[in-house]
Amino acid sequence: MQLLRDADIDPAPLAGKRVAILGYGNQGRAQTLNLHDSGVDVVVGLRGGSGSTTEAEASGLETALVEDAVASAEVVMMLAPDEIHAALYREIEPGLRKDAALGFSHGLSVRFGLVEPRSDLDVFLVAPKGPGTALRSLYIEGKGMIAVWAVAQDASGKAREIALAYGRAIGCGRAGLIASSFAEEAEADLFNEQAVVWGAVPELLVAGFETLVAGGVSPELAYLECVGELKLIAELIDARGIAGMREVISNTAELGALLGGKRIVDASVRQRMAEVLAEVRAGRFAEELTKEELGGYPRLENARAADRQTLLENVFERLRPRR
Ligand SMILES: NC(=O)c1ccc[n+]([C@@H]2O[C@H](COP(=O)([O-])OP(=O)(O)OC[C@H]3O[C@@H](n4cnc5c(N)ncnc54)[C@H](OP(=O)(O)O)[C@@H]3O)[C@@H](O)[C@H]2O)c1
Repeated sequence: MQLLRDADIDPAPLAGKRVAILGYGNQGRAQTLNLHDSGVDVVVGLRGGSGSTTEAEASGLETALVEDAVASAEVVMMLAPDEIHAALYREIEPGLRKDAALGFSHGLSVRFGLVEPRSDLDVFLVAPKGPGTALRSLYIEGKGMIAVWAVAQDASGKAREIALAYGRAIGCGRAGLIASSFAEEAEADLFNEQAVVWGAVPELLVAGFETLVAGGVSPELAYLECVGELKLIAELIDARGIAGMREVISNTAELGALLGGKRIVDASVRQRMAEVLAEVRAGRFAEELTKEELGGYPRLENARAADRQTLLENVFERLRPRR
């Protein structure tokens, strides 16, 4: 694995180039502000009537309509939601400058064919491994967020240098840029979302909470045990790794984890994880995402509403830290 940091990366390939960021959401906002503070000429491309225009301009940023931003830029970054990349790319393709570079922060739309970039374009990926809010706050603190980078099309022979200079300008070179491919990044990310951190972990917390409550434990204590301690273990793993985390917890907790962890996460869980990975690779999730967007997000809307009604959520609202 190749990990590059600021000292290994030449910022010059972005010098004199204008970057258009399409989308001013979670990643768009953070990446634009970091590029701006790194001295890059950047414009935010927004839809007519976008509510984000005022916010971006109040932060001292230049904004323009999507088509004008695209026409003015040598580098165009697709930071709108993945499920609209196909439509957005169709809209901007005629206005993309010949030999421009097209960037992504997730490999999904290229890996699964939602976007098939024109052959004269450089196509690169810089995917920060965390949310935009943290990408921005780390940058302000003088730190950075680790990111994965890749090149899918190298029309100019300079795509690699542009990708790395971009990653450096958004602050990721301070932590490290890891070489990958669009396929590897997309598949690993989609797998994790379903099978590990974002899909399985919250469901494990809910299952533990419900098991304790069904066993007669008060909802408040069940919440503190099963959900409230997540932050503690996350911080320990982040700072010390899994083995280091185990070394600093009590012998009681360590033995409990040893006896219980593999009993819950057994071979059947690994089998289902392998099934998820195979489905992701076969493009099933990309199909589901497209279907969800075309239908107006019915499953996401229903799940969001249902989540708010649970006992667990009720307890959270009562116990949440008051800031
Ligand atoms: N969220 C993360 O932490 C994260 C982490 C790593 C990578 N990524 C990747 O970063 C990319 C952006 O994700 P995100 O979560 O930052 O997206 P997001 O917050 O949902 O993006 C919202 C922005 O997209 C704009 N937008 C929506 N539809 C548009 C359209 N048709 N034309 C132009 N702009 C449009 C919105 O415009 P308005 O302002 O007008 O509403 C808004 O500014 C994705 O590829 C994602 O996989 C995200």
